[in-house]
Amino acid sequence: MKVVSVSQMRGLEQAAIEDCGVPSLLLMENAAAGFLMALERETGPVAGKKIHVFCGRGNNGGDGFAIARMAHNLHADVTITLLFDEASAEGDAKTNLEIVKKMGIPFSAAGGGISCDIIVDAIFGTGFHGEIEGNAKSCIDAINNSGAFIASVDIPSGVSADTGHASASSVFADLCVTFAALKPGHLLFPGRGHFQKLIKGNISVPREVINELRSGYDVIDNSKRELIPKRETNSHKGSFGKALAFVGSAGMSGAAVLSSSAILKSGAGMATAAVPETVLGAVCAHLTSVMTVPLPCENGSLAEPAADLLLEKLKHQDVLLAGCGIGTSDAAKKTICRLVTENEKPMVLDADGLNAVSGCTELLLEKKCELILTPHIVEFSRLTGLTVLKIKENPILAAREFAQKFQVTLVLKDAVTVVAAKDGTVFISPSSNSGLATAGSGDVLAGIITGLLSQGARPEHAAVGGVYLHLAAGNIARKAKGEYGMTSEDLLSSVPAAFMEEID
Ligand code: ACO
Repeated sequence: MKVVSVSQMRGLEQAAIEDCGVPSLLLMENAAAGFLMALERETGPVAGKKIHVFCGRGNNGGDGFAIARMAHNLHADVTITLLFDEASAEGDAKTNLEIVKKMGIPFSAAGGGISCDIIVDAIFGTGFHGEIEGNAKSCIDAINNSGAFIASVDIPSGVSADTGHASASSVFADLCVTFAALKPGHLLFPGRGHFQKLIKGNISVPREVINELRSGYDVIDNSKRELIPKRETNSHKGSFGKALAFVGSAGMSGAAVLSSSAILKSGAGMATAAVPETVLGAVCAHLTSVMTVPLPCENGSLAEPAADLLLEKLKHQDVLLAGCGIGTSDAAKKTICRLVTENEKPMVLDADGLNAVSGCTELLLEKKCELILTPHIVEFSRLTGLTVLKIKENPILAAREFAQKFQVTLVLKDAVTVVAAKDGTVFISPSSNSGLATAGSGDVLAGIITGLLSQGARPEHAAVGGVYLHLAAGNIARKAKGEYGMTSEDLLSSVPAAFMEEID
């Protein structure tokens, strides 16, 4: 499913109007009809219901007038409130305002009490910027406190369609109906928390115009199952790749177990966990199908010759996972730096592996391998030097810039995960599950991505497919254990079934 920025959406509408000759008033008419159809699907027929339509000065308000007209014609009891000076109305919005005035649909001033069944929020759409203040603020507060069913046109007023930033007073809608394509603000928090249900309507932007769009973002939905490598029946374990995992340290042997097991549970032919010899016993106690290699230690922790051993082992491996639970010792850092610059096999760098290159990210430019980085937002903050707040302002841009600059595939993990490929393509995860916010969840994801990589998936496909399967496994674990109690062991044991599970 396509996700477009505000300027791309404007471009789509302009192309429909100027290149294909679709009148803009027709687009607005279609938006209103599509909105009402979606509304009736949720609330039942509007006939006989009290509907209060709040309209802003832009085209979102124009949609609101057309919705008011159509609902009135369907025998709803409609009232309109304008949140702007009537004299400043322009274009199609003005045309639709004049129609509802001539029809005699009643207007009520802003500031009065709200008593109705349904509120239509057509105050701000994609043209919103800045913060909600003054008249709009008190009106939106009253809308949120009304107890009515609230339906927003395109995006809840106060939410930035490009970033998901929500002004302090923003509409909380029961239903949001958007058109032609999703906007990032529908997927990214906090905007995503401002509606219960999202429906995509059709305004008849010609299909050809949408297909022409090359640079939109994409949602990690069920269509991404296609990116998971197909398996030949005529095969042997070598067909599905050998993965080496440099993982684990004292106190974090579980990270080694979870990540290397996830590699095999995602279909890799063989997986070997290379762990410090001091934790070998603890790791082996939990692994049967995964092979192990002890790494040399000094005074109980990893020693520098580990790097030579790993690079030698890699000659006989197809892919490398590095970083889950390796700790922050000097030897671990040096080992990671050598693996990044000397290894030629596709590599997934996670957790402490990312911390090892924070502060010396220019090393990434010296890599000889395809590299997938899987930072959560704090690790990404360390990598980039940007504050978490700054990243959250626009995670899509931050991820894309980093991926393009360092020519890596970046999986930026947060409540909504963003995958950015080297060529600037961006994929956004569609749903979230608080049960995935649990210790070891990232180790499982890193293992899944490595498993797909080992079966020959291109790095961006392994990353997107991995995020998809991680979500699907999370859904299965949630069904069995609930969001409170599910652990990374539950997630890991759900990975095989995730290949058969669709996400909602
Ligand atoms: N405080 C007060 N006012 C504000 C604020 C703020 N913080 N932010 C924005 N505004 C005001 C401004 O006056 C702004 O206009 P400006 O460009 O003069 O700054 C106006 O609100 C923007 O209003 P919107 O209705 O959000 O923006 P726009 O007029 O661009 O319409 C649109 C958005 C096209 C309706 C979009 O949300 C959308 O795609 N909707 C669904 C599809 C649709 O309806 N298409 C048919 C429309 S036809 C056509 O657009 C050509």
